[in-house]
Amino acid sequence: MPEPTAHRPGPLDIPAELLQKYATSGPRYTSYPTAPQFKAEFDESQLLEAWRGTNLKANRGLSLYLHVPFCKSRCLYCGCFTEIGHTADTAGQYIAAMLREAGRVGTILDPGRPVEQLALGGGTPTFLLPEQMRRLVEGLSQQFVFADDAERSIEVDPRRVDAAYLDLLLSLGFNRISFGVQDLDAQVQHHVARVLPEQKLVELVDHLRGHGFGAINLDLMYGLPGQTETTFRRTIERVIAIGPSRIALFGYAHVPWVSPHQRSLESLGLPSTEERNRLFGLAFRQLLEAGYAHVGMDHFARPEDELIRALESRTLTRNFMGYTTRRGLDLVGLGVSSISSVDGTYTQNEKNLAAYLEKAGASTWIKGLALTPEDLLRREIILDLFCNFYLDLTALEQRFGLDFQAHFAREIGLLAPMESDCLLHRDKARIMGRALGRFFIRNICMCFDQYLGGENREGRYSRTI
Ligand SMILES: C[S@@+](CC[C@H](N)C(=O)[O-])C[C@H]1O[C@@H](n2cnc3c(N)ncnc32)[C@H](O)[C@@H]1O
Ligand code: SF4
Repeated sequence: MPEPTAHRPGPLDIPAELLQKYATSGPRYTSYPTAPQFKAEFDESQLLEAWRGTNLKANRGLSLYLHVPFCKSRCLYCGCFTEIGHTADTAGQYIAAMLREAGRVGTILDPGRPVEQLALGGGTPTFLLPEQMRRLVEGLSQQFVFADDAERSIEVDPRRVDAAYLDLLLSLGFNRISFGVQDLDAQVQHHVARVLPEQKLVELVDHLRGHGFGAINLDLMYGLPGQTETTFRRTIERVIAIGPSRIALFGYAHVPWVSPHQRSLESLGLPSTEERNRLFGLAFRQLLEAGYAHVGMDHFARPEDELIRALESRTLTRNFMGYTTRRGLDLVGLGVSSISSVDGTYTQNEKNLAAYLEKAGASTWIKGLALTPEDLLRREIILDLFCNFYLDLTALEQRFGLDFQAHFAREIGLLAPMESDCLLHRDKARIMGRALGRFFIRNICMCFDQYLGGENREGRYSRTI
């Protein structure tokens, strides 16, 4: 069972030498194998066959992710796949294209399968005009069957919506809203070119609450230029006063080789590993003291949240959108750059907007991967460790018909220093992250990643800590 949160050691308890020792670059494991392993040369018919095969599996729900890449302006920290400078006209063409793509998916996957999750992310989904948003969601409802208790979430840029837009989202059935906040300090907001007056956020949250709507997430970020312990403490205090049900506290991922605009933050001074860890540690402490529980690597939720129950029963899982309680869904990504994860396959869509608009309705995949049995085994291990900090070796051996010690002798060797550093506990039956180990979970999972070997991680992945 997880330790009571009040006594749980946090990032501030990590000895400096451990921070130094494990500060490296590595994946966030939203998939395994990770996206750099997806291949431009892939056998499309093989992947289509695998997709169709899932229709024969009983009770196999769907999860739909729609990527809306558009933003009005670019926030300088942003590492997401975004497009600036497009008009409402282009957005209109784009939703028509996504609906064509959805139609094609419905000819491959049985559209009668229940959609248990719908997520709109970006970019900025609320870039769409109200009537475009309505057309999109209603168009999907005509093509798929949504489960009555489907989770419908959307990322909302609080700078760009008003109460009427939120009402529209509620009327369309969205039942979880994530606001991008990052930091409430005026100076930090200025540095990253994203100015959001606190009052605006408070009004939107109050408006939702006035409708009895409480499933509100706030995204925050530490590691930005200008953040100090004092400013960030104040931001966290204000966020606690707003009282969202979930908080994502992301470490700023500096990946200028993917997002060159991030370079402009370098001259403002980015915090060191130690400074980042202090910002995270102080926020961690404040959030726990305010009654939030730590979930996964960087999420916090109220104790009554279903994520906490999933963590306690070790059934928490993760997909491209973040942590979730719903396991075993086939995830279909629609829109530019979206990734689908269906059974033992990954596919990634066209990233070029013009090409996507032209292709949608026919094949939009530019990369694909059919997982090997070894990939499937390692994906299971990484997912369990990453989400639940726990791996049941007996269950794994039975399920995959293997001797863990023999099969993973090399990996056990890689884990040994982490065991000595009290980051994890291992015996014949299990591997368990210890209290401080969860802050190094990327490092722990990397031991099971078969593809990290010779590649240059510095220019590919963000920092693990
Ligand atoms: C697509 S954005 C949010 C939606 C909307 N566009 C907005 O800005 O409010 C999703 C979240 O990704 C996180 N994010 C973006 N760039 C990041 C980076 N470089 N490192 C860590 N998190 C990042 C931010 O917390 C952001 O709120
Ligand atoms: S943080 Fe949101 S609004 Fe800002 S550039 Fe990224 S996706 Fe666009």
